[in-house]
Amino acid sequence: MSNSIESTLVETRVFPPPEGFVKQANISGRAAYQALLTQADDDPDAFWGQMAREHLHWTRPFTQVLDESNAPFYRWFGDGELNVSANCLEANIERGLGDKEALIFEADNGDVTRVTYQALYEKVCQIANGFKQMGYQAGDRVIIYLPMSVEAVAVMQACARLGLIHSVVFGGFSSKALQERIIDVGATLVVTADEQVRGGKNLPLKSAVDEAIAMGGCEAVKHVVVYKRTGGNVIWHEKRDIWLQDLMKDQATSCAPVAVNAEHPLFILYTSGSTGKPKGVQHSSGGYLLWAKLTMQWTFDAKPDDVFWCTADVGWVTGHTYITYGPLAAGMTQIVFEGVPTYPNAGRFWQMIERHKVTVFYTAPTAIRSLIKAAETNAQFHPKSFDLTSLRLLGSVGEPINPEAWMWYHINVGGERCPVVDTWWQTETGGHMLTPLPGVTPLKPGSCTTRLPGIAAAIVDETGADVAAGNGGFLVIKRPWPSMIRNIWGDPERFKKSYFPEELRGYYLAGDGAQCDADDCFWIMGRIDDVLNVSGHRLGTMEVESALVSHELVAEAAVVGRPDATTGEAVVAFVVLKGATPEGEQATLIAKQLRDWVAKEIGPIAKPKEIRFGDNLPKTRSGKIMRRLLRVVAKGEAVTQDVSTLENPAILDQLTKAV
Ligand code: PRX
Repeated sequence: MSNSIESTLVETRVFPPPEGFVKQANISGRAAYQALLTQADDDPDAFWGQMAREHLHWTRPFTQVLDESNAPFYRWFGDGELNVSANCLEANIERGLGDKEALIFEADNGDVTRVTYQALYEKVCQIANGFKQMGYQAGDRVIIYLPMSVEAVAVMQACARLGLIHSVVFGGFSSKALQERIIDVGATLVVTADEQVRGGKNLPLKSAVDEAIAMGGCEAVKHVVVYKRTGGNVIWHEKRDIWLQDLMKDQATSCAPVAVNAEHPLFILYTSGSTGKPKGVQHSSGGYLLWAKLTMQWTFDAKPDDVFWCTADVGWVTGHTYITYGPLAAGMTQIVFEGVPTYPNAGRFWQMIERHKVTVFYTAPTAIRSLIKAAETNAQFHPKSFDLTSLRLLGSVGEPINPEAWMWYHINVGGERCPVVDTWWQTETGGHMLTPLPGVTPLKPGSCTTRLPGIAAAIVDETGADVAAGNGGFLVIKRPWPSMIRNIWGDPERFKKSYFPEELRGYYLAGDGAQCDADDCFWIMGRIDDVLNVSGHRLGTMEVESALVSHELVAEAAVVGRPDATTGEAVVAFVVLKGATPEGEQATLIAKQLRDWVAKEIGPIAKPKEIRFGDNLPKTRSGKIMRRLLRVVAKGEAVTQDVSTLENPAILDQLTKAV
């Protein structure tokens, strides 16, 4: 928490919510928002209790809303019982939506599969019955390593139906990362696919599971269930492996949902922190689902005729809350997309919006920025070449959206008529925290604007005191909220230390620097810890450093972020080898070797964009690496700071030249 936060606010444009939108919005007009805000601030217990009773089906009603007796291990609706999957499936079928399309799946090659709520219910039940027959019960942990598919959503829902705790690992993570998660979570079941298909290529998944298990430590895994996606070659372990299709074949199409305590963990999702070891963020069943559903209705203004499309992967929290749980709890029709935005060409997103008449579209700034480039160089891929008039609302998530990209999105995709909701939240928060409400909030490009009702977000200094409007500080949330992280799996001490540092008076520390302007609009300024955001993916610099130093050639490494026009941030690594510092072609060769190594250790998303070799790293006399200076060097700027505390100032010169 040492980095100081400087003010960078320059944007002044404001876009009031379009009148037509305001008229029909679920939360319409400033007064309606203010009323909810006041109600939630004045009597949080009454507010949350009412929301939870109105929006969820409880098999056993709760009598206590919030239990703070063991803070920060808060319990919400702690004596209530419910089933998350029944809230997403039966709840909709019972209100007559059985024949409504729940999922419209578009495969990488453009093939479309439509799944109604009734059909999804039956599929989920068959999978759940299969898991049950294999002996899995509530509380068991399941690792899911699946491509974007109907099956991925159904397997997550099947886990929820039985109270199995899932932990989804993004298909782009390596077998090593997979092994670490299998061990940490203590998984007994792994669900994967033979291969995944992305951008016209078949990529193996099952073999990574085989490799992960072969690395050792995964002896608790009893079964590997394999969804046959492509029919590609796999090595089969007779006693352990079973095809998902075979498991489902003779199963009944109904399966009684297991009622669990509201605090029962629904899932654990690993995310990067400031140490080398990813954190298993543990979420609850009741509070999490409440917020997933409410934010669909508030932020995305969910309506019965909407076609919602969140382009995230279920391997990230966005795919959990705004694909698997939120849209289904809200009874929406949504698109699930297997592929990538640039295949078969950079018009794919726009073509899919036109084809499926998408009304609410939610994507990441990185995707927008990369598509801007393509559109501006080839009119064929420009949104203007497609009929996007079905759109009524746009969303952005995962990283700050720069005002230029915001304007382009607003004008070219939204036709200047769609509000843009820039949603700030985190794996730990479970759902949106700061976001415009599309029928209320005047939009400011680059600002995630205001706090949602019930979310006590504020900017404070290092003592926890409020800072004045317009000043930078730490973004905190002062009061607990239902969808908050409950624990770090297996590490309650780290949970307390990371998120509730003593000096901050028990506030939740988000780890972002931000400021709040005079209109109560928040501007996110970036992480205050050693976490990078590359293409909207969180990456710990220590994780990449650990991967690098585990290579036999490497003596020492320091990793920093550098601003990047497309990916937001890019990974730059400064490396000291055990042998002589390489130059020229040799440096290129070793750099490639190290990049591949990082891909193998973590995943391709963690590959350094640039590696610079030096005889040493800039260190203070006490041996501390001066990352602050490395950030300047990585940007290609001249070091103007005082370097008198450095043991070896000459090293900066070497690293600057070592491009
Ligand atoms: O730094 C913030 C940034 O992404 C971090 C959370 O990353 P993750 O847990 O992977 O969740 C991403 C999807 C919710 C935050 O600490 N971030 C996320 N959304 C925004 C953002 N930064 C600026 N504006 C946003 N809208």
